[in-house]
Formats: sequence, C-alpha cells, structure tokens
Amino acid sequence: MNKKEKRRIKITGTGFYTPNKVLTNFDLEKMVDTSDEWIITRTGIRERRIASDDQMTSDLAVEAGLRTLKNAGLKVKDIDLILVATSTPDTIFPSTACWVQDKLGADHVPAFDISAGCTGFLYGMILAEGMILSGINKRILLIGAELLTKVTNWKDRNTCVLFGDAGGAVVLEESHDDSGMLSYYWKADGKLGDLLSIPAGGTRIPPTAQTIAQDLHYLQMKGNEVFKHAVKRMGEAAVAVVKRAGLTQEDIDYLIPHQANIRIIEATGRRLKLPPEKVYVNIHKYGNVSVATIPIAIHELNESGKLKKGTITVMDAFGAGFTWAAVAYRW
Ligand code: ACO
Repeated sequence: MNKKEKRRIKITGTGFYTPNKVLTNFDLEKMVDTSDEWIITRTGIRERRIASDDQMTSDLAVEAGLRTLKNAGLKVKDIDLILVATSTPDTIFPSTACWVQDKLGADHVPAFDISAGCTGFLYGMILAEGMILSGINKRILLIGAELLTKVTNWKDRNTCVLFGDAGGAVVLEESHDDSGMLSYYWKADGKLGDLLSIPAGGTRIPPTAQTIAQDLHYLQMKGNEVFKHAVKRMGEAAVAVVKRAGLTQEDIDYLIPHQANIRIIEATGRRLKLPPEKVYVNIHKYGNVSVATIPIAIHELNESGKLKKGTITVMDAFGAGFTWAAVAYRW
C-alpha cells in the first residue's frame, strides 16, 4: 500500500445462518386477513425463516459466527472482540454478545451489543474501523442476529408478514492492500423513535399484566411513515458515501441495501441511477431480517463470485431509532 493512502479495514470472512422452518405467504393467508399477492406486490417477500421455540438470538448469532470463522479459515481464539448487532437480545442484560462469547468458548474476549435497529450491522462496521485503526483490536467478529418473530404480533397483519429470523457475520481486520472500507456515513434521529418500536418491557413502560394485555411488548410500526423516511434517508446515505469515497455513481458495481421492502430497495437504486441488476435483492427468500440482511447479502454475492478484486459496493441501511448509515467498500 502506498504510504500516503488512507488506512482501512477489510472483510476477511463472511457467513450466515437461517433456521430451517419456512413460513410462506400462503401459510400467512391461513393466519391473518392477507394474500400472497398483497405481500409480494407491497413488500417483495415470498417466504421467511422462523426460529424454533427453543432457539434464542444468541443461537443464530453463534451459528453465523462459527460458519464465518470456518469460511475465513480461523478459530475462535483468533478473534479479539465480539460485536453483536441486535434489537432482539436474549436478555436486556447480560448482552447477547456475552451469551455468544460463552457459547463460542471465547474466554475473556470483550463482547458487547450494538442496538441501532436494522442499521446496527453498518454501525458495527464503522465502530470496528475505529477500534482496529486505533490499534485497540486486530480482528473483530461482527455478527448481526435477529429473532424478530418472537416479538411479532401474529394477529397484526400490518407487521407479521414482514419479518424473519437469521444471523449473518463478518470478520474484520486491517487491510494491507487497496481493498476495504472507503467511506462511511451514519446518522440518527431519536425524535421519530415512536414510529417503530417495542413500546413496553424497558424502563420507559415496565412490563405489567396490562401492557401484555395491550400487546405493548410486540413490535409496532407506522409502516407508511417509516417507508417515507427509509426512502429519503437511504438515498441520502448512499449518495453521501459515494461522494466521500471520491467516487461517482457510475463506479458502483453493486448496491447492497437493507432488505425491508422491495419498493424501498428499488427507490434507493433509482436514486443512485443504477440498473436493477446492480441492486442486490434477496428479500423474497428471507423477509426483513434486520441486521442480518446485509451480511447475508455480502456472503451470497461473495459465494456467487460477483465480488472480484476492485468491485465497488455500497451497503446502505435504515432502521428503528431512527438510524441510517451507508458504507462504500472496494473488494
Ligand atoms: N395484507 C393485506 N392488506 C394489508 C396488509 C396485509 N398484510 N397489511 C396492511 N394492509 C392494508 C392496510 O390495512 C391498509 O388498508 P386500508 O387502506 O383499508 O386501511 C392498506 O393495506 C395499505 O396499508 P399501508 O400501511 O399504507 O401499506 P403500505 O403500502 O405502506 O405497505 C408496509 C405497508 C409494507 C409495512 C410498508 O409501509 C413498509 O415496508 N414500510 C417500511 C418498513 C421498514 O422500512 N422498516 C424499517 C426497518 S424495520 C426495523 O428496523 C426492525
């Protein structure tokens, strides 16, 4: 690397895990007043994976983490920090990352959670850059794991058709060539938090028999309001990282957007003036798996041989908080 060139971090391993059980739109037709046609047209989702009753978020995270380490040719002992992005932790405390650390047998390796809604995985990449380039850590296991179906109200057709369960992960370390993270952009707006939240169960509204009777411990979302903000913010973030990386929109080989709704994904692609084949979509298979969507997409693109040396990708996410972020990355 040219001495004057900016130091960067790079992804040296990818992997993911989804539970075996598939829930199709036709299954949902039997549960709530909905249709396969409505779900596909309005969201792009055909099916999603559902964790078994005895699985926790940490189980999805561990499986994704182990697969990622294996793909990278690494062992648990090679990692010096575990970050778990999640909004569906096993417990409020300890953190899911600490449960993961124990299950991985990563004795005394520091571990903590990142809570930033669906943007948590990209927040984690940006955090990892700071940790690695400052010299605090050498090799970080960043996992995005979400078990949204346990906080889903299965009687609410507005939300229960949208989500699935999954874990995805990457290994991050310093790059010694010109590949890696080129630029980032991260923002939040807490004023809009109530548009997408799990209202009860924390200190704001502690759980009582009444909050449970009112379904306040389930995810609630003003879908069409969230939709408008997601389109605006994902576009803003994508355009910003391209500019910050000194690139133009023509340089982008793939947009890897958070998979919340096909219409948000397509709108973000249009904002970057990208043809559809440059916009990665897998929402039809998994639904919205929050922080796991981007690491799964990275792994699938990687496995299909599309991430060649020099390929430029833009990862872009929006989620509860609200939070939004993007990363420009050269492979
Ligand atoms: N089946 C049939 N009809 C439905 C369903 C359903 N599953 N869900 C809602 N409808 C109906 C509504 O009741 C409404 O009917 P009405 O007009 O008679 O009142 C109609 O469809 C339209 O409802 P909208 O909510 O306006 O539908 P919209 O086109 O906005 O789509 C959706 C809803 C899919 C939720 C969309 O708004 C969306 O994707 N929002 C953004 C989600 C997102 O980005 N989340 C961010 C990240 S998630 C995270 O951080 C965990």
